[in-house]
Amino acid sequence: MIRRATIADAESIQRLINQFAEEERLLPRSLSEIYDNLRDFSVFQGAGGQISGVCALHICWEGLAEIRSLAVTTDGRKKGVGGQLIAACLEEAKELGIKQVFLLTYIPRYFERIGFRVVDKATLPHKIWTDCVRCVKFPDCNETAMLLDL
Ligand SMILES: CC(C)(COP(=O)(O)OP(=O)(O)OC[C@H]1O[C@@H](n2cnc3c(N)ncnc32)[C@H](O)[C@@H]1OP(=O)(O)O)[C@@H](O)C(=O)NCCC(=O)NCCS
Repeated sequence: MIRRATIADAESIQRLINQFAEEERLLPRSLSEIYDNLRDFSVFQGAGGQISGVCALHICWEGLAEIRSLAVTTDGRKKGVGGQLIAACLEEAKELGIKQVFLLTYIPRYFERIGFRVVDKATLPHKIWTDCVRCVKFPDCNETAMLLDL
């Protein structure tokens, strides 16, 4: 089941994201950032109540939002959890009147299958760099910027 995150999910969300951050696959998030942005998050809750996937939709600018922090537990993989979380975020974006959704990723082929296309990072609004400057990899980032028109 996909549902919006609640306060009780904050620590599970952080654990899941930071597990992949250690492998440098995602940007690490502090608990403070999770609480600040908790209303961005959707979670996939398994039948036993455990959180097996998380994803955030963050509004950036007029008509533009970012998909962030997509992570699925190793056990939960290849069952469509990631795809369903992205679909839920895109649905919400449409409801909000968002026209384009972008993301920064190391796995562009995964997102190409969903319909995202590669774009030049320089075409994205400068506001997105507020997150980037806090990244250990800045300014030598090798993530690919991708965009989807809704
Ligand atoms: C990427 C990730 C979210 C996918 O979650 P998932 O629930 O397994 O995804 P889905 O079940 O919706 O899709 C699985 C499909 O995507 C494919 N896929 C997974 N990772 C991929 C990758 N790196 N490149 C291309 N395809 C990939 C799988 O092979 C599978 O294909 P199939 O349907 O033909 O078997 C998950 O592997 C993950 O959490 N990775 C670590 C964190 C990360 O990299 N997040 C993305 C940051 S932008």
